[in-house]
Amino acid sequence: MYYLDEPYVGKKEKKYLNQCVTSGWISSQGPFVKKFEKKFASYIGVKYAISCASGTAALALLFKTLKLKKGDEVIMPALTFSADGFALLQSGAKLIFVDCFPNSFCVDTNAVIKKITKKTKIICPTHLYGFPADLDNLKKICKKKKIYLVEDCSQASGTKYKGKKVGSFGDFNIHSFHNKLIASGEGGMITTNNKKLAKRFEYLKNPPSVNRPEEMDGFKEISLNQRLSNLHAAVGLAQLERLENNIRKKNAMAKIYNDIFKKSKFIDFIKPKKTERVVYWRYTIFLDKKINRKKFIKILKRSGIITRETYLPLHLHPIFKKKKKLNLPNCEEIGKYGLDIPSGVNLKKKNIIFIANKIVEEAKKLSKK
Ligand SMILES: Cc1ncc(COP(=O)(O)O)c(C=O)c1O
Repeated sequence: MYYLDEPYVGKKEKKYLNQCVTSGWISSQGPFVKKFEKKFASYIGVKYAISCASGTAALALLFKTLKLKKGDEVIMPALTFSADGFALLQSGAKLIFVDCFPNSFCVDTNAVIKKITKKTKIICPTHLYGFPADLDNLKKICKKKKIYLVEDCSQASGTKYKGKKVGSFGDFNIHSFHNKLIASGEGGMITTNNKKLAKRFEYLKNPPSVNRPEEMDGFKEISLNQRLSNLHAAVGLAQLERLENNIRKKNAMAKIYNDIFKKSKFIDFIKPKKTERVVYWRYTIFLDKKINRKKFIKILKRSGIITRETYLPLHLHPIFKKKKKLNLPNCEEIGKYGLDIPSGVNLKKKNIIFIANKIVEEAKKLSKK
């Protein structure tokens, strides 16, 4: 079977896990947590990286750290992972969905500008599938209007925008390690240059008993455990040490896919700009409109090729039903015709060629039916 994003777990992960088990340091108090944070901060190019239990936990805690309240507005793309929308719904703030640029996975800056009001507190672009958002312009707007910029880099560890890593532009940025470019089992991180925000995030992810014994006789604020364990950090560090190698493999994979798909009339894909280093968490194709996507998925599965429909934009889900009537044609188009195809680092060149040729062949057949 060729899966979507099977992680590579090697000798280094085993070595570091072994060190946890033999030393007995398996909880979040163990040394790998700080080592992973320090190395991640230096890799992204920020002063602070603070780990937590997941990308979702990072989002929820971040909204709490920034003291979002009812009436505040947060602008985010409708084409993103559920956790962004869910964490925001839970915060009580007002969610403003906007479209992405045409032929892009990322939020349309002009659409964002149109939605800014006096109540806008955060703009939260997602670097979807490892493609970077329009960071220079988003950053300029946020600075001018005194709005927080929060990058969702969950699918984009190592993505570069004009030579700099994503996760270093925003005020406060989130990362996920659930089968992403870094796969630590579960896990998340925030990156920031703001010491005050970093400290508050650290406070909120720790209940008093472990890190603040002085508070045991006088609790001050709710802080629920959202820590990363030493075991997860050990795997995360091993993965981080291999990240650049994995990004090279992902780009080699994308080149093979691009070269084969560009010869097909029935398959399209998004090309990165010269100023971007895309990490291809997942490689996504767009099927000719005549092709029945569900049927296509079933046919590919018979050859062992696992594919998945691209995200249905959040405004079209029942939980966001009040937003159903929004007109966001670019992301709706992606949601309708997009297909994620196997993109894991374990795929060999011959596997990638087989998958691509099969996709081209079946797309041609189905487009005629
Ligand atoms: C864009 C995006 N944001 C947030 C998350 C949430 O991360 P986690 O699964 O670690 O909670 C994910 C996870 O896939 C994601 O893709």
